[in-house]
Amino acid sequence: MATVSLEDVRKVYRGGVVAVKGVTLRVADGEFVSLVGPSGCGKSTTLNLIAGLEDLSGGTLRIDGAVVNDLSPKERDIAMVFQSYALYPHMDVARNLAFPLEVLGMSRADIDARVREVATTLGLESLLSRRPKELSGGQRQRVALGRALVRRPKVFLFDEPLSNLDAALRTQMRGEIKKLHERLAATFIYVTHDQAEAMTLSDRVVVMSQGEVQQVAPPRELYDAPANLFVAGFFGSPRINLVKPRTLGLPEGDDVVLGLRPEQLDITSSDVAGALSGRVYLVEPMGPESWVTVDVAGEHLVARAPGDFRAATGSPVCLRYDPAKLRRFDAQSGRAR
Ligand SMILES: Nc1ncnc2c1ncn2[C@@H]1O[C@H](COP(=O)(O)OP(=O)(O)O)[C@@H](O)[C@H]1O
Ligand SMILES: [Mg+2]
Repeated sequence: MATVSLEDVRKVYRGGVVAVKGVTLRVADGEFVSLVGPSGCGKSTTLNLIAGLEDLSGGTLRIDGAVVNDLSPKERDIAMVFQSYALYPHMDVARNLAFPLEVLGMSRADIDARVREVATTLGLESLLSRRPKELSGGQRQRVALGRALVRRPKVFLFDEPLSNLDAALRTQMRGEIKKLHERLAATFIYVTHDQAEAMTLSDRVVVMSQGEVQQVAPPRELYDAPANLFVAGFFGSPRINLVKPRTLGLPEGDDVVLGLRPEQLDITSSDVAGALSGRVYLVEPMGPESWVTVDVAGEHLVARAPGDFRAATGSPVCLRYDPAKLRRFDAQSGRAR
């Protein structure tokens, strides 16, 4: 187990692409930290820098307090799981799991014991004699996970490990990874572009955009108190409503943007004091709830309504909200006020 610390870590690729612009982050021993953000924001580069697969252009990287800037990946005692499984096609599952230990020169008996233990942990016992091509995508990803586990590294790095799986399997494996982290109590750093994965898995989430950290916080805090408009818009489905004060009938000027989550808007049919009036624009039944888009003075606000909500397009509705729960952002800088 280990702490990982990044101090003003930078990466400039050849040709001048600045992929990581000074990231500072301390990951505690046993913590589950996700790096999340849109494609190209520098997540994989940051992870590769921690792993030692890329050289730093600046800054300091420490594992367990020791500077590792110039250590090779092997010397860092880190295991990485990628989106593509990269299993050895000609080896069966048992050998794929054993191989990282064979390379280390471990004894046969120890290797067999470790492989058995990991196979049990991941439910791979019945698949040990199969080749990768005889496995489903989910099973292959489990073997890739197992290959990281056998070495018992100090730190686990994951780069979008579930992105190749279909939606149902992704949700299942997501749960398995969370349980695995609970069991191992090891340090996990997990890259994903998927806000739901980052929220459900992590102790803390690092939100990145264009090579820079936007906010580091536990999932609930990111959702309730986003540091800026980017973070506010990235988390939550449906997205947060961002509106001008005048849409809500408030006297503030247009230098402020107001944020209101869809679950903070209550749809009522009757006219209540302080409620907004609008007309139903779109109803999207999702099963347990419905997403209802309401046209209020030309702006669209999305509200969460019960699953059985029914209303004809164009019918008048009222939206109630608690003004105390409005989030305020500076329209220019995007920062929370
Ligand atoms: N080997 C490379 N050479 C040059 N530019 C790269 C290289 N790898 C990534 N980049 C660029 O660095 C930026 C960050 O990429 P990456 O870390 O892969 O983003 P993410 O994983 O968040 O999608 C992107 O603009 C990407 O095009
Ligand atoms: Mg990536």
